Amino acid sequence: MSNVMKVKERKDRYKVTYMAGDDSGFDMMEGALLVLESLDLPIDWVRADLGWCMWEKSNKKFGEGDPRCNTVPPETIQSIKDTDATLMAAITSKSGVKGFKSAILQMRQIFDLYINIRPAKKLPGVGTPLANDPNIDIVMFRENTEDLYAAVEFHPLPEEMFDLHKGMDRFRGRDVAVSWRVFSKDGCERIVRAAFEYAKETGRKTVHCGNKANVIRETDGMMKRVFLEVAKEYEQYGIKAVEENADATAMWLIKNPQDYSVIVASNVFGDILSDEASQLTGGLGFAPSGNIGENAAIFEPSSGSVPKYAHQYRVNPSAMVMTAKMMLEYLGLDEAAAKIEKALGEVLVESKSGTLTYDVLRDFRGDPNWEKNAASTIEMASAIAAKIDPAFSGAKLEAAKAKVHKMCAWDADSLIGFMD
Ligand code: IPM
Ligand code: MG
Repeated sequence: MSNVMKVKERKDRYKVTYMAGDDSGFDMMEGALLVLESLDLPIDWVRADLGWCMWEKSNKKFGEGDPRCNTVPPETIQSIKDTDATLMAAITSKSGVKGFKSAILQMRQIFDLYINIRPAKKLPGVGTPLANDPNIDIVMFRENTEDLYAAVEFHPLPEEMFDLHKGMDRFRGRDVAVSWRVFSKDGCERIVRAAFEYAKETGRKTVHCGNKANVIRETDGMMKRVFLEVAKEYEQYGIKAVEENADATAMWLIKNPQDYSVIVASNVFGDILSDEASQLTGGLGFAPSGNIGENAAIFEPSSGSVPKYAHQYRVNPSAMVMTAKMMLEYLGLDEAAAKIEKALGEVLVESKSGTLTYDVLRDFRGDPNWEKNAASTIEMASAIAAKIDPAFSGAKLEAAKAKVHKMCAWDADSLIGFMD
């Protein structure tokens, strides 16, 4: 099996798409790009845009209700195809907007990004809400394309569907909504294999599979069977497979997080369990993630776009910075990736004034004046960059700041997409 967790072709220089998303997404992308500037990477950046901002742009251009209106413009899809990897910041979703479809959900389907890898690792200087400071280093493999996310839904339910299964008898004559939970065997197999391969590659010794095969017999039953089958191939590497109920996983993650290393789960359970795991390791402000398939990889933090702070540079750049680190590993730039994590850890541990964003001061330093003492996204990013390269200061730093600020311009004229 080719290693899907790595770029297909190693190159001397890479082309990487960056997409700042919406609102505070621009701020976090600017911060992350500043940190990357300090590394002098062999990367040529290509801008693309997506999210609510493109939904608005397309509505303005084509008129409301036009089928061409979308959160993802064709130029963005093309750019993801044309480049070696994609770095994406947070986007804004709004419910109840007719025709609106989440940009990230679309891209997971378009590019068949079946792996959602979500590490939850405690960084130095970041607390956990758990007692006794357990060592937490978990990597979640969430299936990313099937399950209730297949988007096969009915409301109202067509009459003939009441005849499909006798279990529907009691719903006859009632107002019923149905969402299909679709699992495919190859879909289960490829995510399970990705998790075991990762464990093998990284020397991790257990893989847990959280499922509800005890109740949801067909879908989760399939996931469980495939998991146990594939697990046999990995026994020879000393990898232990543990299959358990997903609700138990949720409970044991709080009680004994140190017992977990790699977790594989279906889409919905993985969505929930990954947020839980991230909360054990500092919360979404620190949680990176990657959406990976055979032909594309989009790295995006798990956090939201915090619209209330848009363009105020208040959000923590850490999740975005750690997401960039994951992307560098994907590209085989491991040394640079390691420098990023080390530098971030040092900034967090040193906890110098003017280097930490409000959330860190409020949630992990107990600073009653967190609002007043907060560093900006760019100040925290500059501190991380200076740890990577102590010469990254003065005129050099200012030039880099100006460059990334321009790269992340958010005015309507700077947005790329729906050009013709
Ligand atoms: C995530 C998010 C998305 C999901 C939303 C924003 C569509 O919660 O990436 O975990 O449900 O997958
Ligand atoms: Mg989620």
